Amino acid sequence: MVNIAILGYGTVGSGVAEVIRTNRELISRRIGDEVRIKYVLDLRDFPDDPVQQILTHDFEDIISDDEVQIVAEVMGGVEPAYTFVRRCLEAGKSVATSNKALVAEHGANLLAIAREKKVNFLFEASVGGGIPILRPLHSSLTGDEIDEITGILNGTTNYMMTRMFCEGADYASALREAQDRGYAERSPEADVEGYDACRKIAILASLISGYQVDFEDIYCEGISKITAEDMKHAKAMGMTIKLLAACRKQDGKLSAIVAPCLLGEEHPLFHVNGVFNAVFVHGNMLGDAMFYGSGAGKLPTASAVVGDIVEEARNFGRNLGVTWSPEKITPESKECASRRFFVRMRGEFSEWKERLEKDFGRIDAVKADGVLGEFGFITEEMQEGLYGQIASKYEQEILAMIRMA
Ligand code: HSE
Repeated sequence: MVNIAILGYGTVGSGVAEVIRTNRELISRRIGDEVRIKYVLDLRDFPDDPVQQILTHDFEDIISDDEVQIVAEVMGGVEPAYTFVRRCLEAGKSVATSNKALVAEHGANLLAIAREKKVNFLFEASVGGGIPILRPLHSSLTGDEIDEITGILNGTTNYMMTRMFCEGADYASALREAQDRGYAERSPEADVEGYDACRKIAILASLISGYQVDFEDIYCEGISKITAEDMKHAKAMGMTIKLLAACRKQDGKLSAIVAPCLLGEEHPLFHVNGVFNAVFVHGNMLGDAMFYGSGAGKLPTASAVVGDIVEEARNFGRNLGVTWSPEKITPESKECASRRFFVRMRGEFSEWKERLEKDFGRIDAVKADGVLGEFGFITEEMQEGLYGQIASKYEQEILAMIRMA
């Protein structure tokens, strides 16, 4: 018998119980032993749910029970999750988590404890919901130097951008719908300001670099300033806007960014719509690969947690070697990255053309139907630092800038 405990009976926690209940037989077959949820920890009571019979309000019940071999941490937040997970690993229990805040902040440390105790700390669900991405990076792609990852890593904002693109929905109603569907974080800022995607790309950057990448060191810009006018301009260019999270290794340097970007139809992430996430990976031998699927929601996320539980149950007494060093690596400043920039500006293009060309060099004008009193233009590829210096001369006139992917 494999006994597990679930910390937190919220959306994902109840999903983990449901996945195990629904697929109990095949999960047990795949493990080669029967699986049982022995405890669920939550501060609340659930009198109308059979979970009440195995519910505890006291973490000590779980930590002191040697029969519990695997713990699913699905509480979210850094504390008390960190203390609980650390104690579980130190007590020789493997942990599976969906908690990106925990992994982004304490991953290196928890992985080291797991290694020392010959247990496992797995966190597939923390990035890309139900999409397998961390395990492929750690197993199938270990023959490769992964030099780029670009992803749509937040389902809520992708759902919102899709609604704004396809149906002209306004920002507030798109957010409300995403929240009603259970995709959003407790605080909408975590999604719309890009913090959720930022923690996920920090985890991916740590995995591919082998060093701790702190999310605070990654430039992060959300979608809260994206307007209907931005989207109209995107459409006029045959493009769309997506919140992208990217990291790249080049010449021994790491860069990382989270920001809304303009993408054309030829871009592999252009057609990733709704709550779906996708992670585009480039390896020095592999070339391109893309992982696509359900990036948020109760059952997809729970499915990834249960996948980790099965992997841990198959590997009792053996650490799988997932690791990165606690030594910190700071990504290069975004000012060093080169790209093209789309700019929306007050006035008429004909009035500004000459001055803009003198400052920016060659530019391409963009005109969106029905948007009055302003125009758009795209710069040539240039470093962001240089773009910022030039754009500062037009502070009063520039309405928006969006990076081109
Ligand atoms: N709020 C997150 C999202 C949930 O929308 O992608 C999954 O991390």
